[in-house]
Order: sequence, then structure tokens, then C-alpha cells
Amino acid sequence: MSRLLITGGTVVNATGPIPMDVLVDGETIAALYAPGTGPADVGTLDATGKYVIPGGIDVHTHMQLPFGGTAASDTFESGTIAAAWGGVTTIVDFAVQRTGEVVQESLAAWHAKAEGNCAVDYGFHMILGGVDDDALKAMDQLVDSEGITSFKMFMAYPGVFYSDDGQILRAMQKASDNGAMIMMHAENGIAIDVLAAQALSRGQTDPIFHGLTRPSVLEGEATNRAIVLAGVAGAPLYFVHLSASEALAKVAEARDAGRNVFAETCPQYLYLTLEDQLGAPGFEGAKWVASPPLRSKHENHLPDLWKGLRTDDLAVVSTDHCPFCMKDQKELGIGNFTKIPNGIGTVEHRMNLIYQGVVDGKLSLARWVETCSTTPARLFGMYPRKGVIAPGSDADIVLYDPNGTSDLGLASQHMNMDYSAWEGFRIDGHVDTVLSRGSVVVSDGTFSGRAGHGRYVRRGPSDLLR
Ligand code: URP
Ligand code: ZN
Ligand code: ZN
Repeated sequence: MSRLLITGGTVVNATGPIPMDVLVDGETIAALYAPGTGPADVGTLDATGKYVIPGGIDVHTHMQLPFGGTAASDTFESGTIAAAWGGVTTIVDFAVQRTGEVVQESLAAWHAKAEGNCAVDYGFHMILGGVDDDALKAMDQLVDSEGITSFKMFMAYPGVFYSDDGQILRAMQKASDNGAMIMMHAENGIAIDVLAAQALSRGQTDPIFHGLTRPSVLEGEATNRAIVLAGVAGAPLYFVHLSASEALAKVAEARDAGRNVFAETCPQYLYLTLEDQLGAPGFEGAKWVASPPLRSKHENHLPDLWKGLRTDDLAVVSTDHCPFCMKDQKELGIGNFTKIPNGIGTVEHRMNLIYQGVVDGKLSLARWVETCSTTPARLFGMYPRKGVIAPGSDADIVLYDPNGTSDLGLASQHMNMDYSAWEGFRIDGHVDTVLSRGSVVVSDGTFSGRAGHGRYVRRGPSDLLR
């Protein structure tokens, strides 16, 4: 097996930055050395002036997700290649079971889509769209035998993915029993559907009404309800794509009480707003239709979320990568905002966008790595194989250059979309080199990986439950 010494860089783990050389042996990290003290008889990769960080882990993606009569436009191949370009070496995608489907069959369908097609490693969470006795039994089997230890449920999307409180409680009781994590999409979908129908009946059809009919208090209410239900069941709980101050306050309160409650947010909720993006003229705002919606810049959501990342009330930044093209996809909702497929594509940009938070003084370097790699690995049973630069860990490594810039936009992106939700954003740094399990997959502005290199990651229980 080939050995490679990464020299001259600053290793950044969740514990902080320290100048070290890193020896890669085959697919794993073999050793760390004080600068200049590593073996001489090996190939070298010069990381002078660069940060050497564990590969990004995006625990919330939706490659090829069927949604609203169409499907997310990134395949596992195009989406994981884009991920690699952006310094992401592991994704955890959501396999979907809908009402009436057998959980194991739905999972098999997701494996069939991904297997042999991924450029970086991948795992699955399971979406439970129909909780019944069989689905509850299947949860045990997935935890015990399939390496799936997390299950997403929806308090939104009645008639599509929605579970009622009784179904949610039963799944939480099962999770309390088998050690799984319940992931929650917390929006009061029943109330939202009433508001959306009322808006349409008034002729309010533009994309901005997607946001105005999903007020942040309805995310706060659902978040509180889920926390109460998880308390009754004694189950750990993880909120996906948290967007609102009201929801964050409920998470912080539960954490202060010592509860196993965790949350992620996404770059779109840290940077983009209801007025500036969703409210763009005409149908343009459809580019940013996602649920929960972008929040108002006249409220405190964005600064609150950055603060939550600093204080660990928000433990993770994921992307909720769910891209749709404007043509033939988002356009399905012209004249009716409820028909716009929900989702934004960001898998390629998360490491850059959160690094910009470091440049802007909002986060430390260590917290960048912790929220984008280490905690995702720990919360979702992949640590220390992933999420850390340490001997024995997979050699998923990014050389990040704080010099130079990254210009985000359609012209340079690799995600399969006909627009960019991030057009015109400039980052003060760039992903320089990416190794996936010891193989260089991106360097010198070239992708040298291949679809099929990525392996399925069987995950264990969460490492962060107290
Ligand atoms: O708008 C979104 N978030 N689309 C993907 C599905 C989900 O709820 O995560
Ligand atoms: Zn969701
Ligand atoms: Zn999602």
C-alpha cells in the first residue's frame, strides 16, 4: 500500500489547530508527527500554509429524492462528485419509506440507487413515512443488521410524509429501546396546510407565500411538542434543518435541562432571507423554496442561529441538499406556490460557507471542523473512523487553503442544477485538495476520483448520548 506524508500544514481537529505532518498509509491515517519529523522514504504532499482537516460529513442529503411529481436533480453520482469538490468525503442520505411500503424494500431501493455510483462514502438514515407495527419491527432490524441507527419523521407534509403524534410517540418508544436517534422535521403541517389553502384562495400564489404560510412560531410549536413526546418516551431527539429562533429556544431549554436533544441548521438559514431571496420578483423566489422556509431578516433568526452554533445548542451544520432545476421542476409551481418542489442545493458549498463564518469572526476554526465533520460523525455513529485526523481513522482529509477565493455560482458549480442558490457569493478561502480513504479525488482544480469509489458506511449508535 502506498504511503504519503502530508507536510507543512496545520491540522485542525475539533480540539483546535496544531502544526503537524500526517502520514497516510493506504486508506487510513497511520501517524501524526511534529513538523519535519516524519519518515523520509515516502511520497509527500505539501500543505504549507493550508489547514489539514477531516473531510466534511454532510448528514442531510436527498440525492434523487422523488418529491412533488419530480425528483431531486442530483443523482448519487453527480451529487457525490459535487460533494467531493466541496471537501465533503461522507454523506448520509435519507432512504424513504412511504405509507404502505415495507421498510426493508424501500431501503433496498435506496441501496440500488447508490451502490456503485458514489464518489465518496455514504450512509443512510431511514425516513419513516408510515409508522405501523411492521415499520416499528423494521427499526430494530435496521439498527441491528443494516447499520442504520437514525430515523427521520415529519410533523409536516400531511398526506405525504406526515406522522401524527401517536405514531411519533410509538417510534420514539422504539428508539428509546433500541438506541436509535429520532430525527424530526418540526413544522406544524396541519396548521400550515390551512394557511396555504387560505392564501391560495386569496390569489396569493407567488413563492414568497410559501414562507408566509409557514410562520416560525409553527416551527417553535412543533419543536416543543416533539421535545415533550421524546421526554415521555425517554428517547434522544435530533432536529433537522432548524431555521427559527423559537425552535432554537426550545432546543436550548431542553439541553439546559440535561436532555438528549440536538439540532442542526443549514447554510441557507445562516445567510439567506425571506425578503431577499424567497421574495425575489416574479417566480425567481422559487429557487429558494424549501421547508422550513427562509426566515425574515427583520427578526433575529440569523444571528441567533450563528450564536447557537457557537454555544453548541446547534451541534451540526448539514445542507438538506435537495436540488431541483428551475426548468420543468421548480416551474411546476408557477401560479401555485404549494406545487413548487421543496429544496435547495448546497452540498458543494457547505465547507466554504461555514469557513466564511470563521473569516467573519462568527465561529472558531475548531468549531468549523466540529460542526461540519466531528460532531456529525459522533452523533451518527461513525466516529472515530470518520470526523477526526487521528491514527487509525479513514484518510478522509481536506487541505483547505485560507488564501485565494471561491466564487460560488452556476459557472463553477458541479451540482446538477440550472441555477445556483448561492450566485455571487465569494468565499475567502478554497478547498485545495481532497483525499477520500487515502485516494486523492480533487487537486489542482481537477476531479480525479470516480463513481464507485465511495463505500456504504454501516453506522453504530450515537456517541454523544448522556
Ligand atoms: O425543502 C426541503 N427541506 N426538502 C427536502 C425534504 C425535507 O424536508 O428535508
Ligand atoms: Zn425535512
Ligand atoms: Zn431534508
